[in-house]
Amino acid sequence: MNENEIKIKNKIIELQNKISEWDKHYYDFDDPIVSDEIYDTEYNKLKKYEEQYSYLFSDSELQSSPTNKINAHLSRIFTKVEHDFPMLSLDKTYSIEEIQKFIDNIKKIASKFSFFIEPKIDGLSISIKYKKGKLFRAVTRGNGQIGEDVTSNILQINNIPKEIDYQEDLEVRGEVFLAIDQFEKLNMSLKEENKPIMANPRNAAAGTLRQLNPEIVKQRNLSAFLYYIINPQKHNIFNIEDSFRFLKKLGFEVTKEAKKVNSIEEITKYIGDFKEIRKKLNYETDGIVIKLNEIKFYEQLGQTSKFPHWAIAFKYEPDITSTILKDIFITIGRTGVVTYNAKLDEVELSGTKVSYATLNNYEFIRNLGININDSVYIKKSGEIIPCLIGIANKNNYEIFKPIDTCPYCKNQIYFNETGLEQFCLNQDCPEIKIRKLIHFTSKEALDINSLGEKNITLFHKLNYINDITDIFKLKDYQDELINLSGFGEISIKKIIQSIEEAKNKSLEKLIFGLSIPLIGIKSAKFIASKVLKLENVLDFDFSIFEEYHDFGSKITSNLIEWFKDEKNILLIKRLINLGVNPSYLEEQKTDILSNLSFVITGTLSKPRSYFEKIIYKNGGQVFSSISSNIKYLLAGEKAGSKLIKAKKFNIKVITEEEFYELLNS
Ligand code: IVH
Repeated sequence: MNENEIKIKNKIIELQNKISEWDKHYYDFDDPIVSDEIYDTEYNKLKKYEEQYSYLFSDSELQSSPTNKINAHLSRIFTKVEHDFPMLSLDKTYSIEEIQKFIDNIKKIASKFSFFIEPKIDGLSISIKYKKGKLFRAVTRGNGQIGEDVTSNILQINNIPKEIDYQEDLEVRGEVFLAIDQFEKLNMSLKEENKPIMANPRNAAAGTLRQLNPEIVKQRNLSAFLYYIINPQKHNIFNIEDSFRFLKKLGFEVTKEAKKVNSIEEITKYIGDFKEIRKKLNYETDGIVIKLNEIKFYEQLGQTSKFPHWAIAFKYEPDITSTILKDIFITIGRTGVVTYNAKLDEVELSGTKVSYATLNNYEFIRNLGININDSVYIKKSGEIIPCLIGIANKNNYEIFKPIDTCPYCKNQIYFNETGLEQFCLNQDCPEIKIRKLIHFTSKEALDINSLGEKNITLFHKLNYINDITDIFKLKDYQDELINLSGFGEISIKKIIQSIEEAKNKSLEKLIFGLSIPLIGIKSAKFIASKVLKLENVLDFDFSIFEEYHDFGSKITSNLIEWFKDEKNILLIKRLINLGVNPSYLEEQKTDILSNLSFVITGTLSKPRSYFEKIIYKNGGQVFSSISSNIKYLLAGEKAGSKLIKAKKFNIKVITEEEFYELLNS
């Protein structure tokens, strides 16, 4: 090897190591450190180099490269099961030319054939066996040869039938995923509970499927699309289109967008149409899968160690570009939380000009290892502001250091106990004040939309609004405000009218609007349902919340502290004096269960939250642990320690049926 070749080889090894490291985070920790796009770019680069310079490596060196591993390493918790037929992966392309090559290869052995196109679902593949019409076992892909038995978790997925009207042994394969709306719901509740959120639906699904507690799996509402039957000919199925019909008839869900086509022109059209359609689906796709429809040719086409030759994945070029990071600056939120932002050299990204991107917190910067002047990748991700997702070229040797002074009040900012977030703790920070005011008028809070961000900032600057009570005093300055430049009688009257209307909004909206630490919409609603009227908060005993299911001691102590603070007490009193004293606008409610406390355990036919709601709605209470104060234990299947404890305390154990009887009594 000459000097240049040594250099090249080292560069390739460096790339191999980098991708192995990414694999480890993705597959073993369910916590990717780079986006799929960067991964794909670098992976493809490595593949190309390895082919070009294969003569620099020994066979065993090439064998151990990440490009030669079927990934998804096994975790240790679930029973390992060997697949009767290996679960392969798909070769992927980004261009029509490569699809043409795929077709040319089929043409070598077949003259008349068609294709079946399906969305490529971004989830986890699963193989499910049915025996005598009953779901028998479900196994993950694992390393392709050996997977993990996750039957108990798959049984929690609503759209996978537990029984089918088909007595022959059957093995079906498909993709388990978390729908986008469910993913958002999950992250919202994780956020409210102050737990780390999930990076994307795929990783959330992976984490969920690995849960040892099937109850959690049930709550998270995973879904599955099935797309393949093992040994289809044995079941008199000779093409993929018919296998979809067969699966559908048995009660499996298949993608509605799947379609049989006959030519490369039709494939090209599907690719064009689906590019837009995919953005509106409630599940994530990273492309499409093109399969040869006629199964009889499969055996002859054969496969490599990784991919079959009868199918290929087409991936869309991502909406991603690179630019120079010009500056990093922070903004402060209503809780004092610090958000890092990037100022970029303006570039065009999927049709719009972009000069800012979000960076989240300092941890995000540290993970990416970025600094000012680096060339970085940015990506459009649903939101208007794009996200910075990785380094294209490091131009600055160091990593950007955390900012330690609040740019608005010049006070020191601190890391919290987790070390992940930073906060400005200055109660009088003008930016926090403005953010709180804006939150108070936001849609989920009091929804005073005519008083937008711009007006609040201006009125604050002009000293009309200092805290939320001042909003309700604006009407006293009506004449002055009308004379401000840019305003007039109509606009000011409209603002004042919507402020007056806000006084009668529900208590939960007001409580949410107060920006009490850790109190999200869900908790605010719960508090409102207990407190009933604003004035009651002044002498309400919040310590009882500690006992409530899902509330926890941290939130409770925060709440107690907040309502003990003289400043906050004064704020509430002033609100009430200004005529702001909203009530909890109850849903239809009875008192059938009043003074009855419940604990819920085991697997029930619906999620626990469903029963909780019914109990609250009918005046009852739900607790998380058994004590002598509990009246009923509502127990489903596989109830564990709580059942034993309930018997010890002589607490009445009821089934779901008995629960409904109680309600109807
Ligand atoms: S067919 C030989 N169809 O993508 C493998 N796979 O990158 C046959 N996937 O392992 C798989 N949607 O987990 C097929 N409509 C679809 C798919 C799909 C997603 C996954 C599957 C596979 C991976 C390959």
